[in-house]
Amino acid sequence: MEIAVSRKAHFNAAHRLHVKEWDDEKNKAFFGNCNNLNYHGHNYDLIVTVSGEIDPVSGFLIDMKVLGAIIHEEIENRFDHKNLNMDCEAFKELNPTAENIAVVIWNFLRNRLEKHLKLKVILYETERNFVEYNGN
Ligand code: NI
Repeated sequence: MEIAVSRKAHFNAAHRLHVKEWDDEKNKAFFGNCNNLNYHGHNYDLIVTVSGEIDPVSGFLIDMKVLGAIIHEEIENRFDHKNLNMDCEAFKELNPTAENIAVVIWNFLRNRLEKHLKLKVILYETERNFVEYNGN
């Protein structure tokens, strides 16, 4: 029997989407407002879902206090009120699209979770646009 538990988190961050191999015109046409030279912000909402077997002794899959602390340390501390392009090592060479941010988040969290737990992240960049990554 597999069960899933989820925890929501939130961070505000600035970014600029830009491919340095493309000229300014192509970047502007492709990324639109997200190519703005002086960056712009998003209110990112994150849903972290952990799944696996319930521990028969505790009745927990994972202690939510522990999961919350991991998300705080690994994600909110790292990204909240940051300029992703300039402040975050992960995006020095990686375009901070919602897709890439979701993969980076997944990798940071994966390192902190016990091996038998499965992990999925859903990252909302706007209310309507979100991406999902489960490591596959
Ligand atoms: Ni943007």
